[in-house]
Amino acid sequence: MTALTLSTSSATTLRADAVVVGVAKGAKGPVVAPGAEAIDKAFDGKLAAVLETLGASGAEGEATKLPSASGIKAPVVLAVGLGDTPKGDDGFDAEVLRRAAGTAARALTGVKKAAFALPLPDLESAAAVAEGALLGAYAFTSYRGGKGKGKNEAGAPLAEVALLGGKPRDKAYKAAIERAEALAAEVNRARDLINIPSNDLTPKLFAEQAQAAAKEFGLKVEVLDEKALAKGGFGGLIGVGKGSENPPRLVKLAYQHPKASKTLALVGKGITYDSGGISLKPAGHNETMKCDMSGAAAVFAAVVAAAKLGLKVNVTGWLALAENMPSGSATRPGDVLRMYSGKTVEVLNTDAEGRLVLADALTRASEEKPDAIVDVATLTGAMILALGNRTFGIMANDDAFRTSLHEIATEVGEQSWPMPMPRELRKGMDSPIADIANMGERAGGGLVAGLFLEEFVGEGITWAHLDIAGPAFHESAPYGYTHKGGTGSSVRTLVRLAERTAAGDLG
Ligand code: BES
Ligand code: MN
Ligand code: ZN
Repeated sequence: MTALTLSTSSATTLRADAVVVGVAKGAKGPVVAPGAEAIDKAFDGKLAAVLETLGASGAEGEATKLPSASGIKAPVVLAVGLGDTPKGDDGFDAEVLRRAAGTAARALTGVKKAAFALPLPDLESAAAVAEGALLGAYAFTSYRGGKGKGKNEAGAPLAEVALLGGKPRDKAYKAAIERAEALAAEVNRARDLINIPSNDLTPKLFAEQAQAAAKEFGLKVEVLDEKALAKGGFGGLIGVGKGSENPPRLVKLAYQHPKASKTLALVGKGITYDSGGISLKPAGHNETMKCDMSGAAAVFAAVVAAAKLGLKVNVTGWLALAENMPSGSATRPGDVLRMYSGKTVEVLNTDAEGRLVLADALTRASEEKPDAIVDVATLTGAMILALGNRTFGIMANDDAFRTSLHEIATEVGEQSWPMPMPRELRKGMDSPIADIANMGERAGGGLVAGLFLEEFVGEGITWAHLDIAGPAFHESAPYGYTHKGGTGSSVRTLVRLAERTAAGDLG
């Protein structure tokens, strides 16, 4: 990963290949943001005017490169837009800084070292810039380069970042930077897992990755293979996985702190490929379905992050891994599965597979009586229709918990929205022969899925469900620190939830 240091050097004298400055939108054109005073001085105070001539307005997402003025060691200045100038004494919003740093890092692909002279009035801003830079300096290159080509045809991510204006000798700053590094590394772990194509990332390989990480970070790990799953009665996981040559797995990954008083259980949907099964998805709907394990990737990453940060809370991750394929051995529409909980489910649509594997994992997670369960899943197209491509939906059996998760997500810069659980939608899942069907009314499809999951959560356990179908995989143009492909959606929310739980802030 990109190396990051806090530096007390001045922006003009630091040896670097580029220096990054912020530019905001003022009433009369672009305004150079705090942190870049020395750079502006080297331009005789005319940096804003030069930028305006080059077409910059200070709008978010803008990146303008220009040759340095004399007196600046770095040969290139990169100005990134910060949007409207904050009112009164307010500083720039953390997410604005995070995205601007990400935009800068992306614009500096192929560059070795950059000095970031963005506004860093406090610890929160320093952490945001660090996170944004590390998340922006990401590339998934494992599959690049044929014969005679370098692996890194598209250019290597920015290799070194010096953050100017932070306080390198201040313990709190050091800790904030270390946290940003751990967090970004884990978001990038999730991104990598999501980006690996399904012909390589099978449930078995995913489980092996979890085992390797467990060894590296001192986590407990248990893997149930298809034999153990069948023996244990995990009808959901078996039912979804039985059409594939790549059999299912249930992974338990546990981080434990000796002084923890709370246990958080995280459950992730890990469909390594979702073809739809016998209810096959049409072309146009299956090209990105390697991303259907994004929930499990986020859970995996969050457990490792909790371990890296040494949080005083137990965090158990459950990865419900299967490949949903059509074949002679696949579950048919109309089949009935007996789930791990003992309930029976009539499978009306084999493409509603996520809720089946999650149901088993939720029941299993509930057996250990955690203080709360959060599941994460690319569960429904309906949630995308409701909230768009950048916002995940939050459902819960507890209003306060749902509100907390929404606040936490906002705080870490992830877009989310609370969704209801309308009771009247339950009857649409009534089955003439089983306890419940895996499909209900089309209207409110995301909410129907949530109601299904709730039935598999143990009595009295606080539970929330994040439907990340929209934000998990980014298909349009990159922006801020978000690249095309796997985004690592919800990792930062889960980690902050673990931190809050450790601090005793919740329940
Ligand atoms: N994995 C999909 C949901 C999805 C769609 C995620 C698009 C990301 C992008 C899920 O398994 C699915 O197919 N859901 C169905 C449920 C329906 C059959 C009740 C859906 O949303 O259409
Ligand atoms: Mn599906
Ligand atoms: Zn799916």
